[in-house]
Amino acid sequence: MILVTGGTGLVGAHLLFELTKNEAKVKAIYRANSDLKKVEKVFSYYLDNYQNQYKKIHWVIADITDIPALEIAFEDVTHVYHCAALISFDPKDYDCLYKVNCEGTANIVNFCIAKNIKKLCYVSSIATIGKDLNTNEVTEESEWNGKDTNVYALSKYDAEMEVWRGSQEGLSVVILNPGVIIGPGFWNSGSGKLFTTAAKEPSYFPPSGTGFVGVYDVVNLLLLAMKADIDKERFIVITENLTYKEVLSLITTALHLKQPTKMLTFWQLAVLWRLDALRCFLFKTERKITKNQVIALQEQKIYTNKKVTETFTYSFESIQKSIAFTCGKFKKEKL
Ligand SMILES: NC(=O)c1ccc[n+]([C@@H]2O[C@H](COP(=O)([O-])OP(=O)(O)OC[C@H]3O[C@@H](n4cnc5c(N)ncnc54)[C@H](OP(=O)(O)O)[C@@H]3O)[C@@H](O)[C@H]2O)c1
Repeated sequence: MILVTGGTGLVGAHLLFELTKNEAKVKAIYRANSDLKKVEKVFSYYLDNYQNQYKKIHWVIADITDIPALEIAFEDVTHVYHCAALISFDPKDYDCLYKVNCEGTANIVNFCIAKNIKKLCYVSSIATIGKDLNTNEVTEESEWNGKDTNVYALSKYDAEMEVWRGSQEGLSVVILNPGVIIGPGFWNSGSGKLFTTAAKEPSYFPPSGTGFVGVYDVVNLLLLAMKADIDKERFIVITENLTYKEVLSLITTALHLKQPTKMLTFWQLAVLWRLDALRCFLFKTERKITKNQVIALQEQKIYTNKKVTETFTYSFESIQKSIAFTCGKFKKEKL
């Protein structure tokens, strides 16, 4: 049986939808506070009478940091998709990020080894990929440099190291490193915040940009990676590199809203992250922008998807299409 972690999140819910099309039963873990309605909502985006397909999910309560609960979740499992993670760029969340992303992944890897799991497909991030010193182009081989890196990237890098450790101990692994994932339903977390931000019609946009990919492609590639006779490989999964201006403009255009026109300058960003740190210190609120995020904006890395497209002979859906679909759902639910 297949086990999915993070099934109540953007990637995991879409993966569960694809898996339950064919598989008789799929196991997924959730936590006491997880919102399973979000998964049903994702199913409803793609199928009117989704209930029968949704019922194929065998939900087991387990936090990835809870070893006894994982012991039960791993019963009869042969293949694992590990999508669960905490996404936060707030430095005060470092301990929590380390516990969930790094220790949680170590637990998943250890159970995979102990239970002779045939293959682990792990969702990492482009945040764990370094940069070539001589060029802006980034490949799977680009050397990682943890200096001035945000806390999320540090925790995901350590998590990926746990997966490589598992592979050294004989576990078959494939790692996907997606860029910012565009998809519907999770408007207040992760990449969903791009849509809620765009809906506020901001005048300003951040400089630089990054790699973007639709959730449909991430899920397709996870399924392909699991089936293929491929082991001990990582793949950058992006459709294209875009600036934040381009992405926000695509979203606001699809939502028929005003486009941002003014770029935030670096001195404005330098003031903003300091004010944000002060606001957070005084009012104990969540950080919205950090020093390391501003540093990352100073140089746009150009990610290449050559390895993944060639290995799987894969063509990505256009980002315009992913954004248009996601905006359609956003309009119905939020505007
Ligand atoms: N979204 C992006 O743009 C992006 C880009 C690159 C890589 N990624 C990676 O892709 C993966 C999926 O991301 P996503 O966008 O689907 O994130 P998401 O929507 O925030 O979902 C995160 C999932 O992880 C689960 N989770 C968090 N802590 C857990 C714990 N301690 N035990 C068990 N489950 C836990 C959440 O469960 P609850 O519902 O209970 O909170 C949820 O199901 C992550 O590994 C992320 O790092 C995401």
